Amino acid sequence: MSTNAKITIVKDGPYLVAGGIKLTHKVMESVGHHREYHDGVDLPQAENYALCRCGHSQNMPFCDGHHVEAHFDGTEVASTDPFDNRVDIFNGPSLDLFDDGRCAFARFCHREDGDVWTLTEESGSEGLREEAIQAAVDCPAGRLVQHDKRAEYAEIEPEFTPEIALLEDPDKQCSGPLFVKGKVPLISANGFTYELRNRYALCRCGGSQNKPFCDAMHVNLGFNDMLE
Ligand code: FES
Repeated sequence: MSTNAKITIVKDGPYLVAGGIKLTHKVMESVGHHREYHDGVDLPQAENYALCRCGHSQNMPFCDGHHVEAHFDGTEVASTDPFDNRVDIFNGPSLDLFDDGRCAFARFCHREDGDVWTLTEESGSEGLREEAIQAAVDCPAGRLVQHDKRAEYAEIEPEFTPEIALLEDPDKQCSGPLFVKGKVPLISANGFTYELRNRYALCRCGGSQNKPFCDAMHVNLGFNDMLE
């Protein structure tokens, strides 16, 4: 990836991706009582490309201009306040969980021994602490961020190579959002640069009420990108 990597939103149109960001397809699968990402189909790679945001392209995942005849309203309404100003904080003995409530319904917050909030409360136990961390870092929305009380309250975040993953949710028989990893700058249609985040989920079904971010509406809509 080059240093000009970024995603720029087009008014009532696609996401313009620049800088050779790797494009992947990841299938979210349930294994026991937790979830895992498995590789899906291979996708073409390019320096620059336009990803459909309206949900109407006939050439998914890329924009083919159908947003025009669909009269897509892509107005961005999500809060632009920084993450730390929007969160509720859940306290545990070795971790504090920051939670901004921005849910993509990917369900990685549930593990074998409980959900991320309960696991955080029980993070005095080594095994449960590891589970609480995993449940947070796997969240594609970036909603959940653990702070380490044993390490100067540092954020616990994975090191990602920049990537955009198209998510698939076979349990719900639908396709999910774009999982953007690795601190990729996001620029709104009006030129505003959103807070730089390591993980975030962008709506690509067109139905989110919190555009440009995913709010799980793809499940209600039964959105299907027809990639597999
Ligand atoms: S945004 Fe262009 S076809 Fe969907």
